[in-house]
Amino acid sequence: MWPDQPIDYIKLEDDEKGIHFGFFNQDQLVSVVSLFIDGNSAQFRKFATDAKEQGKGYGGKLLLHMMEEAVNCGVNMLWCNARLDKAPFYEKFGMIKTSRHFIKDGVAFVVMQKDLLSR
Ligand SMILES: CC(C)(COP(=O)(O)OP(=O)(O)OC[C@H]1O[C@@H](n2cnc3c(N)ncnc32)[C@H](O)[C@@H]1OP(=O)(O)O)[C@@H](O)C(=O)NCCC(=O)NCCS
Repeated sequence: MWPDQPIDYIKLEDDEKGIHFGFFNQDQLVSVVSLFIDGNSAQFRKFATDAKEQGKGYGGKLLLHMMEEAVNCGVNMLWCNARLDKAPFYEKFGMIKTSRHFIKDGVAFVVMQKDLLSR
C-alpha cells in the first residue's frame, strides 16, 4: 500500500484491537485487511494484495469474507477511507461513497460505507 514508506508508517495504535484477515494461496499470504469494530459499526483498514498477485480475485474474496465475519460480530455499518481511484472497486462490493473527502500525503480519499443489514 505504501511501498516507499518504512514499516512503522503502517502501524496503528489500535492494531491490537483489530481483527486481521489474510488470504492464503497455498501457503503464501497474498492479501490482507484489518477490521476495527466499534459497537455496531466497523472500519476496515490496510487492505492490500501483493502487487504481483493483484487482479486475480484474492482481494475481492477476502473483502466478502471479512464482511461475513463483520455481520457475525454484530456489525451493521461498515466503512473505510477509500483511495478515490479505488472507489469503483469498492462499489462492486456494495460500498457507497459519502460526501466526506480528504487528502493524505498527496493521495485523495473518500469515505465509503455499506449497510450490512440491507444486503
Ligand atoms: C485494492 C486491492 C486490494 C484489490 O485487490 P485485488 O486482489 O487486486 O482485487 P481482485 O482481483 O479481487 O478484484 C476484484 C474485482 O475488482 C476489480 N478491480 C480491481 N481493482 C479495481 C479498480 N481500481 N477499479 C475498479 N475495479 C477494480 C477487478 O477487476 C475484479 O473485478 P471482476 O471480479 O469483475 O473481475 C489491490 O488492488 C491493492 O492492493 N492495491 C494497492 C493497495 C490499495 O490501493 N489498497 C486499497 C486502499 S483504499
